Amino acid sequence: MDLLFEKSVAGRACTLLPENDLPDYDFAPAQKRAAAPKLPELSETDISRHYSALERRAHGVNNGFYPLGSCTMKYNPRVNEAVAALPGFTEVHPLQPDATVQGCLEVLRLAEKYLGEITGMDAMTFQPAAGAHGELTGVMLIKKYHEAKGEGAKRTKIIVPDSAHGTNPATAVMCGMSVVNITSGPDGCVDLEALKAAVGEDTAGLMLTNPNTLGIFEKDICEITEIVHEAGGLVYYDGANLNAIMGVIRPGDMGFDCVHLNLHKTFSTPHGGGGPGSGAVGCKAFLAPHLPKPVVVEENGALRRDGSRPGSIGKVKAFDGNFLVTLKALAYVMTLGRAGIPAAAQNAVLNANYMMHRLKERYSVVSSEICMHEFVVTLEKEAKEKGVTAMDIAKALLDEGIHPPTMYFPLIVHEALMVEPTETEGKEGLDAAADVFIKLYDKAMADPDWAHAAPRTTPIGRPDEVAAARNPVLRYQFG
Ligand SMILES: Cc1ncc(COP(=O)(O)O)c(C=O)c1O
Repeated sequence: MDLLFEKSVAGRACTLLPENDLPDYDFAPAQKRAAAPKLPELSETDISRHYSALERRAHGVNNGFYPLGSCTMKYNPRVNEAVAALPGFTEVHPLQPDATVQGCLEVLRLAEKYLGEITGMDAMTFQPAAGAHGELTGVMLIKKYHEAKGEGAKRTKIIVPDSAHGTNPATAVMCGMSVVNITSGPDGCVDLEALKAAVGEDTAGLMLTNPNTLGIFEKDICEITEIVHEAGGLVYYDGANLNAIMGVIRPGDMGFDCVHLNLHKTFSTPHGGGGPGSGAVGCKAFLAPHLPKPVVVEENGALRRDGSRPGSIGKVKAFDGNFLVTLKALAYVMTLGRAGIPAAAQNAVLNANYMMHRLKERYSVVSSEICMHEFVVTLEKEAKEKGVTAMDIAKALLDEGIHPPTMYFPLIVHEALMVEPTETEGKEGLDAAADVFIKLYDKAMADPDWAHAAPRTTPIGRPDEVAAARNPVLRYQFG
């Protein structure tokens, strides 16, 4: 498909703007461009058709099944988008006086109340813009807590199990901590003996991804938090995938001190695509003085943003974070209510287990345990014996209108496919997708070359992904 630059026709234009009736401003020569920008010259029809054609090439939950593990690509109710588009929310400025944005401050306060209730935490911040940013904020809270106790210099290690999300160790390093990696036991869960050996006087904390990246709920979770607390460390819950547990069990009740949520997964904003996200962070009361400032407080019946917090880690993002994402999360929580939230989580787990059960007809599932919201299969044996890889199946799925599962993740599983069907997929959809997975497996095993040649219907087949990542071409190269 040609790019807009290639479709450009000299002299063609859209008449979107009125004639300029202001006098020309004479910029200083140093401020002037040497040559006019090479913008594409197109009509409105040309542009509209171009973007519509691009849209038809994109795959979203409205087009079909999207079981991208660790991403929760579920259907998000449109009503929440409608709420977030209300002019009372979109046409305010973050620098407006508090008295004029009482409704927005009430949104932040209610979101803190309800998401705090769901996580078992006492206070929250909505400043972090994404999950990894939430982790950073959480570990900064932990660091600040030890510093305030005069133990900052000695507590410099963060323990991270090997089944954690890759952002966890990266976060710890970004916070100036060193990472102590502990390996999982044969059941895919944290090995308690390895944990006991790892904790000590230098432990700042532990970051636990739960469900872990194998889709398993850590079976010794309360023992884990106890062991770390006894050593004087704090425990961080990576709650990016709260879809599996919301309304059923709370990190705060399992001994965790702080948690981040990916509102752009579980709470009505899609994950991925580069759009705004929110890595809201919740914490127990003793960490609340360290939260990013300002925080919303109530005084004389009115709400205001309080920036006078001497113990705060400071700001981690401008203003109140991606406010409309928080608003959508609040609308989602309020529309689902006390009964709907656990029902969504239970259906997510049910759907994943059903899909896992169907795929077991052909695929090797990594853990024999009941899974949470997602599960991992491996094509390690098929790759060795027949040369059929996870990539082959993923590419063949594209030809069937199914977005591939997450591939080659978690790193502790070779030839991994991580499948997360989500609760918004019906049984017919799950069965149809499982039938496709099984059909492709059989075809690929009977004829590996057929599998290597997939995809056949997409505009791009198998790009050199390493080269694309290492040497991205981000600007149009004029000939
Ligand atoms: C368990 C877990 N933690 C952290 C993250 C990071 O979230 P984000 O991509 O918003 O930075 C993800 C993202 O998928 C995740 O699955």
